[in-house]
Amino acid sequence: MKISVIGAGNMGGALIKGWTKAGMAADITATAHTQKTLDDVRKACPGITTTLDNKEAVRGADVVVLAVKPWLVGQVLSEIMPELKEQLVVSVAAGIRHERIDVYAMPNIAAEFGESMTFVEEAPQAETVAELFGRVGQSRVVPRRLMEAGMMMAGCGIAYVMRFLRAMMEGGVEMGFYPDDAKQIAMQTMQGAVSLLRETGLHPEAAIDKVTTPGGITIKGLNELDHACFSSAVIRCLKAGLEKQG
Ligand SMILES: NC(=O)c1ccc[n+]([C@@H]2O[C@H](COP(=O)([O-])OP(=O)(O)OC[C@H]3O[C@@H](n4cnc5c(N)ncnc54)[C@H](OP(=O)(O)O)[C@@H]3O)[C@@H](O)[C@H]2O)c1
Repeated sequence: MKISVIGAGNMGGALIKGWTKAGMAADITATAHTQKTLDDVRKACPGITTTLDNKEAVRGADVVVLAVKPWLVGQVLSEIMPELKEQLVVSVAAGIRHERIDVYAMPNIAAEFGESMTFVEEAPQAETVAELFGRVGQSRVVPRRLMEAGMMMAGCGIAYVMRFLRAMMEGGVEMGFYPDDAKQIAMQTMQGAVSLLRETGLHPEAAIDKVTTPGGITIKGLNELDHACFSSAVIRCLKAGLEKQG
């Protein structure tokens, strides 16, 4: 399956790198606005094809992935429209709708490391797209009403998780660790927590019970988080970007 990625920036580049790692380089064509971006992505992904010509990129493609900024989607579609025939057109641009877009997908930049959480909107060819994005992480097909929520949890969510990690680092530094050590400790702790949930299938609260001694020190910290409205802050953070808050 020949894939053309229009816009090899942060998101498009991450997909290209992820698909390259999955052994798909020979099937990928990347475009960008500047030659420098193409040189960088080709260096990182030997074997891919690059061109500054969007029309040329689209011509031989089976799948066209639009990964330009949202306000450029209409312009790029007008440009490539004469070359669009049977190609499956997928857009990862947030909040943009267009009649020629077949499937809407919302990946995140961890696609570069095969760890994206991608949402694919229900559509006749959604499963094909979910399979494609499944090569760079987990993907799930959801109804349109959940696309925005998915974007907040997994697209923007990466930034929120980073903020939590940074807070943990700052606490570690205040208690005496060097920043880099504090970062490694915070990351490994987070990875451990994720593995625990993955391996056991436990609800987070049940996992918390495993490390919380009655009258001990863990519960003191947990209660401090509650006093500071931590859960409420996270929920409000996730809902802040929704167009219609309910
Ligand atoms: N970043 C994320 O985490 C994320 C997550 C999910 C979805 N998205 C979506 O992905 C899209 C891109 O976001 P981004 O963060 O990756 O932006 P970005 O880093 O600015 O990448 C956009 C790319 O588009 C290229 N470009 C600009 N005009 C073009 C044109 N006419 N033809 C072909 N390529 C063109 C740019 O080329 P140059 O580099 O040469 O200027 C750049 O490489 C957005 O619509 C966003 O909503 C992003």
